[in-house]
Amino acid sequence: MGDADEIRFGMVGHGHISGQFLAAMEVVEGAHVGAVAGRNAERAKAFAQAQGIATGYGSVGEMLQAEQLDAVYVCTPHPSHEEAAAACIDAGVAVLVEKPIAPNLAGATRIVEAARYAGVFAMEAMWTRFLPIYGVVRRWVDEGRVGDVRLVTASFGFAAPVMPEHRLFDPEQAGGSLLDVGVYPLTIAHWLYGSHPVEYGAFALVGETSVDEIVSIAAAYPGGGLAQLGCATVATLESSAVIAGTEGSIEVPVFWAADRAILRAGEHEEIETMPHRANGFEYEIEEVVGCVRAGRTESESMPLSLSLEMAGLCDEIRARLGVAYPFEEGSD
Ligand SMILES: NC(=O)c1ccc[n+]([C@@H]2O[C@H](COP(=O)([O-])OP(=O)(O)OC[C@H]3O[C@@H](n4cnc5c(N)ncnc54)[C@H](OP(=O)(O)O)[C@@H]3O)[C@@H](O)[C@H]2O)c1
Repeated sequence: MGDADEIRFGMVGHGHISGQFLAAMEVVEGAHVGAVAGRNAERAKAFAQAQGIATGYGSVGEMLQAEQLDAVYVCTPHPSHEEAAAACIDAGVAVLVEKPIAPNLAGATRIVEAARYAGVFAMEAMWTRFLPIYGVVRRWVDEGRVGDVRLVTASFGFAAPVMPEHRLFDPEQAGGSLLDVGVYPLTIAHWLYGSHPVEYGAFALVGETSVDEIVSIAAAYPGGGLAQLGCATVATLESSAVIAGTEGSIEVPVFWAADRAILRAGEHEEIETMPHRANGFEYEIEEVVGCVRAGRTESESMPLSLSLEMAGLCDEIRARLGVAYPFEEGSD
């Protein structure tokens, strides 16, 4: 495929996660990153130069005006997703927006409504949903290899030093473990049970910056399946998800980035490995490329309705935990 047929991506944000995206792009056929924007032109240009990207801009608006882009990956801190996504959608450019799509349901709804109104593709970058190993896990579950699924346990937690200015701990930047990593265990339980919980209890340790540093959730799903879910920014949590059924169990090591699953039923043990071609981000990028080429406005695997449901659930959990952000109405 010639350059003219390539899907040309821009990026908004050039921080921690942007390097993962670029590394995965290396193995995606028919797409490349042609421009990057940040808040400061010098920093964006320096990043572009270091990464072999053609050019950098000091704002998303300048990038959209100067470049012919097919899609933009938004990877700024959560509260700035909306402004960047809205600018792209207004310009008719498809967007892949990092998780969480917005800090709350109100912001997520504005992005989704703008995309739907404009008929422009938008998707939340919940990359875990696209990892090939989950095709195997789904097959094992559907074939009844573990019997009736009764409990899923999944946690994502790491121990970061508490730095009040850092986006993980700063309420102005929608800090907290739930929005940063809690969305992964909630997503995997949703993926398994096909629904959000019908009932749940949530407890948190709220730190000195007033955001949740550890959250523990016990949830019940329609049909009677249960989940124990956790997330943390100040403690390292077990990284394997376990799907326990009446006849056996499936372990998914490092479930948010998984390439391996282990089925255990009685004496039987079976291991499936599906190595990533790069780092696992390539599958969500390929989803965007496929949708943009096909002229679709949403991904069937990660539809906008799911992003809205997740944003609403996270709002509700935060309300129960007493965590509100200064930019939210009635937060004092
Ligand atoms: N999918 C995953 O596995 C994964 C992993 C980590 C993070 N994330 C998500 O990715 C997002 C970014 O996280 P990160 O850890 O990469 O953050 P980060 O390291 O703080 O990087 C943020 C980047 O955004 C730029 N930026 C900040 N505010 C901006 C604004 N208003 N407009 C334009 N650019 C702005 C910053 O540039 P300057 O400060 O130089 O302006 C920086 O380049 C978060 O939403 C996070 O949840 C996803």
